[in-house]
Amino acid sequence: MSTHRIAVIPGDGIGKEVIPEAVALLQLVASRRGLALDLWHLDLGADRYLRDGTTLPREVFEEIRDTCDGILLGAMGDPRVPSNDHARDILFGFRFGLELYANVRPVRCLDDRLSPLKSFGARDIDFVVFRENTEGVYVNVGGQVRRGTPDEIAINEDINTRKGVDRILRAAFEHAKANGKTRVHMADKSNAMKHAHELWLRAFREMAKEYPGIEAVHVYVDALCLYMVQDPSRIQVIVTNNLFGDIVTDLGAALQGGLGMAGSMNAHPGRRCALFEPVHGSAPDIAGKGVANPLATILSAAMMLRFSLNQEEAAQRIEAAVQKVLVQGLRTPDIYSEGTTKVGTAQMGDAVLAAL
Ligand code: NAI
Ligand code: MG
Repeated sequence: MSTHRIAVIPGDGIGKEVIPEAVALLQLVASRRGLALDLWHLDLGADRYLRDGTTLPREVFEEIRDTCDGILLGAMGDPRVPSNDHARDILFGFRFGLELYANVRPVRCLDDRLSPLKSFGARDIDFVVFRENTEGVYVNVGGQVRRGTPDEIAINEDINTRKGVDRILRAAFEHAKANGKTRVHMADKSNAMKHAHELWLRAFREMAKEYPGIEAVHVYVDALCLYMVQDPSRIQVIVTNNLFGDIVTDLGAALQGGLGMAGSMNAHPGRRCALFEPVHGSAPDIAGKGVANPLATILSAAMMLRFSLNQEEAAQRIEAAVQKVLVQGLRTPDIYSEGTTKVGTAQMGDAVLAAL
């Protein structure tokens, strides 16, 4: 039996509260299924940075890259580090260091009462977004001229490479094919951003020919936002650039009950080590109060079982357990609505554990 090594990085704020709930589930799954899990707990984050200046040491990064199947990360960000230096080093260290170009975010509403839409619920909201994670306007190419004067100019360049576009499109189509999906939406703004997004559109149309069983739908991103709210049931897979992906995935999170419900994977398909994290940040406003929703992190851990450890059945069981406690009406305050039962972080984690 091979051992799966997982780097566990709770990080900052509520990361430290939600990660233990996911870890407890992983341990249960491991013991029940005879899975050898080596959980490597790492003290990285604001506390460590403030103590000794450490962010992500090179040798730690390399050991994770070379020995781990996955990284389970809570959140980074602490008001005591206004520069956010440690968070950037750690998050970007993994994202760019491991070239995790595919940010995969499932949008699945697990209980009708979590849907903000009056006509659409759990049966209708179930899709996945592939967000390009290494290019676009987030590459930090640009500059400022005459800063602070009435004539100032500020520029951020939008970087789109054929290789980068092709590989995220490929990831989305392959995911659709492997999961019996029949439709992929590619969202751009090629009507206004003629150079960069014409590349996306052309690459998408070319690649679509290789997937005859999949309907390839091109959509402008503004229209996509409209459809996501008007009728999300038509959407199965979305693929888009870094900036648009950032925005539509938050809209997607709202469709599944909010940030506390949204898990994610950052991967380089075909390579071993991927990063799994809830979409939310460290939530300093509620940190330390024991009220953070652990479900986004638990769902991210389920994704890790599915994609990095090849444990599809275990992943499904965790998702079913989460759904069960939601249908029973348990709610952390962020997802509370009238007629449901308010619980804290640990109670929610325990309930999922019991359901599992
Ligand atoms: P945030 O996601 O931490 O919080 C936004 C709002 O959602 C807050 O009101 C928070 O209480 C609530 N919230 C988030 N997750 C929740 C959960 N699991 N349960 C209940 N409520 C939850 O975003 P914000 O406030 O913009 O950023 C806070 C810090 O987190 C900053 O330092 C930021 O840089 C960092 N951040 C880190 C991310 C990461 O580690 N990948 C992602 C986003 C932000
Ligand atoms: Mg975002």
